[in-house]
Amino acid sequence: MTRRRQIYEGKAKILYEGPEPGTIIQYFKDDATAFNNQKKGTINGKGVLNNRISEHIYTRLGHIGIPHHFIRRLNMREQLVRQVEIVPIEVIIRNVAAGTLAKRLGLEEGTPLPRALVEYCYKDDALGDPLVGEDHIECFGWASNEEMRDITEMAFRINDFMCGLFSAINIRLVDFKLEFGRVWENEYPRLLLADEISPDGCRLWDMESDEKLDKDRFRRDLGGEVEAYQEVARRFGLLPEG
Ligand code: C5P
Repeated sequence: MTRRRQIYEGKAKILYEGPEPGTIIQYFKDDATAFNNQKKGTINGKGVLNNRISEHIYTRLGHIGIPHHFIRRLNMREQLVRQVEIVPIEVIIRNVAAGTLAKRLGLEEGTPLPRALVEYCYKDDALGDPLVGEDHIECFGWASNEEMRDITEMAFRINDFMCGLFSAINIRLVDFKLEFGRVWENEYPRLLLADEISPDGCRLWDMESDEKLDKDRFRRDLGGEVEAYQEVARRFGLLPEG
């Protein structure tokens, strides 16, 4: 097979030109980073697991009408997706206090929030993805007010659905990050959910034991990263029972 043209290499993925115009191949790597690239490592087999888990979640979100970039999984580490113009905003939805929210506001990790909370960060590695408000987003033209309204509405719908999806496998969805992109249709932008949804970008706690089944195992040197990702895949029925 001829080598495809690489478009971009990120922390956990490589993007290649796809077979048709307007398509991209997402290759899932085993590399893991945390704390804005200050901590680096490898989680053996992570790419394979995230490819499967993300496919599963995207497929289910498609069933409830969330527009997304996923077309199909190609092999163990690659999936075909639509090429989008990424909105440079990370959308974080939180159900339980953890991570930077707990630290910033002095909340005890694990405290349930009164309702789902949305936060926005400007996607810029050099700046460490700073927290921004909707007025920054509009002022600097990263997305229009109308787009942010649609993005936020979709993000809450995705949260509602994903809370159910995970609770059915005895996992609490503590928080997670979403990214959106635009495709242009007859000169009008249309928003699609993009990137991946996997234990790399979600906090997932076992409902009974509160055991962490996500990238915090790597961030916090807890060990058992591969086993945690495998456990999520297994509970979704994506791996043989064992
Ligand atoms: O670190 P923080 O508490 O802000 O993260 C909130 C959620 O967003 C976590 O689930 C984390 O995995 C995810 N996140 C991410 N990529 C980032 C920042 C946060 O996937 N750059």
